[in-house]
Amino acid sequence: MSCNRSCGLITGAVIGAVLAVFGGILVPVGDTLIKKTVKKEAALEEGTIAFKNWVKTDTRVYRQFWIFDVQNPEEVAVNSSKIKVKQRGPYTYRVPYLAKENITQDSETHTVSFVQPNGAIFEPSLSVGTEDDMFTVLNLAVVAAPQLYPNSFVQGILNSLIKKSKSSMFQNRTLKELLWGYTDPFLNLVPYPVATTVGVFYPYNNTADGVYKVFNGKDDISKVGIIDTYKGKKHLSYWASYCDMINGTDAALFPPFIEKTRVLQFFSPDICRSIYAVFAAEMNLKGIPVYRFILPSSAFASPLQNPDNHCFCTEKIISKNCTLYGVLDIGKCKEDNWIHFTVYKTAADQYTG
Ligand SMILES: *[C@@H]1O[C@H](CO)[C@@H](O)[C@H](O)[C@H]1NC(C)=O
Ligand SMILES: *[C@@H]1O[C@H](CO)[C@@H](O)[C@H](O)[C@H]1NC(C)=O
Ligand SMILES: *[C@@H]1O[C@H](CO)[C@@H](O)[C@H](O)[C@H]1NC(C)=O
Ligand SMILES: *[C@@H]1O[C@H](CO)[C@@H](O)[C@H](O)[C@H]1NC(C)=O
Ligand SMILES: *[C@@H]1O[C@H](CO)[C@@H](O)[C@H](O)[C@H]1NC(C)=O
Ligand SMILES: *[C@@H]1O[C@H](CO)[C@@H](O)[C@H](O)[C@H]1NC(C)=O
Repeated sequence: MSCNRSCGLITGAVIGAVLAVFGGILVPVGDTLIKKTVKKEAALEEGTIAFKNWVKTDTRVYRQFWIFDVQNPEEVAVNSSKIKVKQRGPYTYRVPYLAKENITQDSETHTVSFVQPNGAIFEPSLSVGTEDDMFTVLNLAVVAAPQLYPNSFVQGILNSLIKKSKSSMFQNRTLKELLWGYTDPFLNLVPYPVATTVGVFYPYNNTADGVYKVFNGKDDISKVGIIDTYKGKKHLSYWASYCDMINGTDAALFPPFIEKTRVLQFFSPDICRSIYAVFAAEMNLKGIPVYRFILPSSAFASPLQNPDNHCFCTEKIISKNCTLYGVLDIGKCKEDNWIHFTVYKTAADQYTG
């Protein structure tokens, strides 16, 4: 079952804000004496240190969610009152933690291709509750049905099915159900072949992201990890002009010998765009001097503040004609999903070694 634009917007507004948290990235500072070893060990081929860490990354990447819990469902349904919501969160998952699969080296182009299996592990220590916390949210299937089937005869049938399944405009669902999917009782009764599972990220489990093809660094270590193609293409085809470029690595690793002045570019499939980190501070990690790179606020600024971001503003209503920051319409890139945009902001001080 697909979902049109306004339904997507409702979904986004009511289900809540999805926050992609990128940790600060710690990069060891190179030393000329060890450069040769680093060059050898940083290439992505069987037997190197980099390869081992890259196949199953130790870098912790978290995804956090805040859900808007509807406080007055009865009032809204009966008296058409304005929706009152309470934001609850964060609920944190660690993603992706599974090992890369189908790793294939190509010695001619010096690239290695792979898929990244999707998987999320709940992190109670970074969450305000459990995966079984209950929320009152819009019943997406019920709300979307009239928009999907404007025909009044069909609507009559749907209404009786909604009644029969005891569904209403609002529903109580757990966090786990909302994110990863639940069987909708109303859709289950619909006598047409429709997908009956609904969830913001459904399907996620048992799916994989990619294929990615990245440079293995054997010929040129400064290119190691940099994405050559994603899903067989050099561009995303979601955005206009340079916003559509697939830049840098997948953030799991960066080429060695990084200067403070470097802008670290990487591609994030969660938000369907390339983004970048800049030098923030020198740090000491168990005796090893490292640089901390963070996402600058300019990367998420509205086009008013940073004109470079104009091609990321495709959603005019919620962004108030591109004057607000933090809204990214990812409808086109998450075609099969109910959610049509994600709201995110930087979390500069989250990092892991
Ligand atoms: C709806 O409004 C009426 C009149 O203001 C009020 O008496 C009633 O309690 C309201 N119902 C709900 C469910 O809020
Ligand atoms: C990995 O490769 C196998 C064999 O070529 C293929 O059947 C499978 O679909 C691939 N996995 C993914 C996730 O692409
Ligand atoms: C949701 O839970 C609340 C509180 O437990 C309850 O009052 C309400 O009737 C439930 N709503 C639905 C649609 O099941
Ligand atoms: C998805 O996988 C995770 C981790 O294996 C598991 O905890 C969760 O219950 C799964 N969710 C669904 C909907 O299958
Ligand atoms: C990708 O990199 C090019 C060249 O560095 C840059 O001009 C462009 O703005 C970048 N695009 C994105 C989306 O980061
Ligand atoms: C956006 O701009 C259009 C045309 O300039 C205008 O009609 C519309 O009211 C604006 N919308 C908002 C939310 O500012």
